[in-house]
Amino acid sequence: MTETETSRTESPAQNRPITPFEMIGGVEPIRRVVDAFYDLLESDPQYAELRAMHAPDLAPMREALCGFFTGWMGGSRDWFNARGGFCVMTRHAKMPVTEKTAQQWNDALRAALAAAQVEPGFAAQMDQILTRLAAGMVRGQKNAGI
Ligand code: HEM
Repeated sequence: MTETETSRTESPAQNRPITPFEMIGGVEPIRRVVDAFYDLLESDPQYAELRAMHAPDLAPMREALCGFFTGWMGGSRDWFNARGGFCVMTRHAKMPVTEKTAQQWNDALRAALAAAQVEPGFAAQMDQILTRLAAGMVRGQKNAGI
């Protein structure tokens, strides 16, 4: 066994790939993105249909999306554990998501990533993945590639 292999076995934490959670910089930048996202929904009429699908008080959603992103990106799974698991596709399965409102979700997220000054290359990757995820939530759309 080489020196490198030995230290890998003994200190896996130091050799594991960096998580998206670490890449974005932890909870604080995630919260900035989430707050920017719901601030936009509350203030910009361009997202009116998407806003109307949500409850009047967006405070619980701010907590939920922050907890979701944290766990989904490889940080603390406290939010998932507190719910006994969570499937984002199942949660949205009964919602009347249309191409228009999915587009609004992705547009708002893209704008929020920029407002929160997330590194552009990383923001583009998040945008791409979440665009595919939202496309899979559109009712009647079969193959979104996920
Ligand atoms: C594509 C990525 C998306 C992610 C990661 C995401 C994430 C979430 C999360 C974590 C919740 C909270 C669930 C809960 O606390 O039970 C939620 C709720 C919700 N989402 Fe999404 N969502 C996405 C896309 C969408 C889209 C495309 C729409 C609509 C077009 C949408 C509309 C809603 C609504 C209406 C709720 C419920 C809000 C409420 O209870 O007031 N989401 N979403």
